[in-house]
Amino acid sequence: MPAAATIAAPNSGRAVLGGGVADPVVVTPDTETFEDAVFRHSKPGLLDRQNFKQHWSVDFWKDFSVPPSISDPSTPIPSRLQAILQTLTEAARNMGVFSSSKAAAYWGYHITRSSFFALQGIAGVLAARAASSVTGAESNEVGIRMESMIRAGLTGPIAEALAMYYQDFKNIEEDVYKLPWDMTTRGHRQWSPFWIARRSAQFVTEAAATLARRNGGKPDDVWLKSHMYPDYYLNTFHYQTDGWLSERSASVYEVSTETLFLGRQDAMQRQTLVPLRAFMAGRPRDGAGTRMLEVATGTGRFATFLKDNYPRMDVTLADLSPYYLQEARKNMRYWADMRAPGQALGGADGTGVSYLQAPAEAISQPDNSYDVVVCVYLFHELPPEVRRVAAAEMARVLRPGGLLVVTDSIQLGDRERLDANLARFGDFNEPYYASYISEDFGKLFKEAGLECDTKLLASSSKVLSSRKPLQQPKPAATQADTAQPQGSHSPQTAGEECAEEICVVPAS
Ligand SMILES: C[S@@+](CC[C@H](N)C(=O)[O-])C[C@H]1O[C@@H](n2cnc3c(N)ncnc32)[C@H](O)[C@@H]1O
Repeated sequence: MPAAATIAAPNSGRAVLGGGVADPVVVTPDTETFEDAVFRHSKPGLLDRQNFKQHWSVDFWKDFSVPPSISDPSTPIPSRLQAILQTLTEAARNMGVFSSSKAAAYWGYHITRSSFFALQGIAGVLAARAASSVTGAESNEVGIRMESMIRAGLTGPIAEALAMYYQDFKNIEEDVYKLPWDMTTRGHRQWSPFWIARRSAQFVTEAAATLARRNGGKPDDVWLKSHMYPDYYLNTFHYQTDGWLSERSASVYEVSTETLFLGRQDAMQRQTLVPLRAFMAGRPRDGAGTRMLEVATGTGRFATFLKDNYPRMDVTLADLSPYYLQEARKNMRYWADMRAPGQALGGADGTGVSYLQAPAEAISQPDNSYDVVVCVYLFHELPPEVRRVAAAEMARVLRPGGLLVVTDSIQLGDRERLDANLARFGDFNEPYYASYISEDFGKLFKEAGLECDTKLLASSSKVLSSRKPLQQPKPAATQADTAQPQGSHSPQTAGEECAEEICVVPAS
């Protein structure tokens, strides 16, 4: 092994960022320059380029920003409105809105949806403000930030949503996945004024409570104690009422997150389907014969899009919270009633879905039992050492040749303009977010015995896919191996050939 030097304070001008578990910057003099070493240990968004194939969306989002003609608050409002209108018209023309009824329907639906969530966000902030004036509490930082965003015309989030819809619709046009099922389903409950009113009232009540807790800077205790739940889990993430452990929390979760992202959360989650489509090439289009596990499914919202695209896929939805699993079950039943009535798809309720209460770090399923494992928005909530164990577990239950898709927040270096503010999301009682944004997932997946595949970006989210090799190399002793909670790691048998790779389209 060559001699190595540890550099404590680099003077290259490039910041070195380390997560909770990052190694010190080590230069191996005969193989590597100092600059290379700093780069290697810097932002994960940059390191990804060495590990993952880059989907066109990576370059699309890398430098994406709102033009100053729209975002600059010193520009007079009429000029800004004109610039917004011009941008929207251009975008609409590019998307074929004026020539295709499908595009017009997609954009009409999504703009209505985003407007609804914008109004709802404003109602939440106003309710929090009214509550704090009653209690005499000082105006809180998040409230102030949201208010200033609203006063600035929500230009940033609106532009993010529109660009996200561009990406989503492009996928739909290219038959990567279908139009969102709730958009195309007649009689969907989302159009019922009573359903909307109930959900909105729940949201506004929850937003006022959440913002008030944030104002106090002290999360509530979670009401339920059990040895089944690790300490880090018994946290009221986002200051939400009851953490992950109540029916109320589960029923308001979707509307809260969609409001936070101004309606683009579903579209971001759907990007998980992109690497899956490539994997499914050559398999039955309805998903028959494919077994999939979703770890930390939450309310199962993503799973409804998955099932709508692959109704015969054998799906297991896992989570630690029985309340969220119950909400997921309701969502899946509703999906099946609306989209596959009378079809016996198997699983727990004829929906082709089974439910599993299990932690990501000890998935109570045999080795090599799933073709696909997906996990959406979990890793940023895990302590660094648990991330490793969870990834090793996902790799263990995956069959050789199987696909892992992890979707989560963007990290440092993915959209460098946002780096300075990225960690502020952690203010929302996200204790592991700061280490998450500097975690090198390429390295982490390799340590878990996986091969990195493709990276996508999707506004505030990123999607990383990796594959379990057909032939497992003898793993070096790693943290992930030593922390393995269960599973025998039996010698791999050759599975079927890997499906062809996802196409990497050059950025236009
Ligand atoms: C941020 S939510 C994401 C839910 C869903 N995937 C989504 O995208 O809407 C996190 C979910 O992960 C679950 N969770 C958190 N830690 C977990 C763990 N260690 N094992 C299993 N589930 C966990 C929570 O119960 C919650 O449902």
